[in-house]
Amino acid sequence: MEPKDIHCCLPILPPLLDSKCTLRFNNITTPHLGGNSFKLSSISGQVEPGQILAVMGSTGSGKTTFLSVLAGRCKTENGFVSLNNCPISKHMRRTQMGYVQQQDLFFPYLTLRETLLYTAKLRLSPKIDRVDQVDTIINTLGLEKCKNTRVGDDISIRGLSGGEKKRLSVATELITNPAVLLMDEPTSGLSTILFCQLIIYFPHFPYFLFLP
Ligand SMILES: Nc1ncnc2c1ncn2[C@@H]1O[C@H](COP(=O)(O)OP(=O)(O)O)[C@@H](O)[C@H]1O
Ligand SMILES: [Mg+2]
Repeated sequence: MEPKDIHCCLPILPPLLDSKCTLRFNNITTPHLGGNSFKLSSISGQVEPGQILAVMGSTGSGKTTFLSVLAGRCKTENGFVSLNNCPISKHMRRTQMGYVQQQDLFFPYLTLRETLLYTAKLRLSPKIDRVDQVDTIINTLGLEKCKNTRVGDDISIRGLSGGEKKRLSVATELITNPAVLLMDEPTSGLSTILFCQLIIYFPHFPYFLFLP
């Protein structure tokens, strides 16, 4: 990705008070991907506590690749990512970072609440009250009404609406209380109303959100 390809990379909200994490990425450079001529070249920046940073670029400009690097899922040739000046480790990524990918992947026969309970079982320590955590997130994201609705698959099983599914994707990542939340096109495919429904919940969380 050439610097000219990044149309905008701006914090769009003032810092929220509760967050204490600063994420820095410095000189991120990837190898050429899979024989393709594409690579990220020297991407640097930082996100202050509570800020939301939006990364925008045309399709194929490298937004997903960049998020994958921050999430530790894509090899780099150079550069580093740090949280509060500590180089980010695998363990920090697992416990302090959430990554909402572009495609929502769920079991269609589970209800929204079952999906979250299942995620909580996989990702939370048994010492944490998982049921309480799940119900708190359902409440905060305004998902009470559809908590017992099956997720569905948009083909033969009727289920959650697009906006509800997107909020469920966000909820599954918020379950671990991450300090940083990466989101890959969380609002694509949503109508303006669904977009607003999702976005109004963001300021409840003292996290960084990337909205490519
Ligand atoms: N694993 C891969 N192997 C080969 N090429 C890849 C791979 N991942 C991404 N690319 C290429 O890298 C470029 C950037 O992709 P991506 O980061 O998905 O862009 P965006 O999210 O901005 O649409 C594209 O040209 C894509 O085809
Ligand atoms: Mg993408």
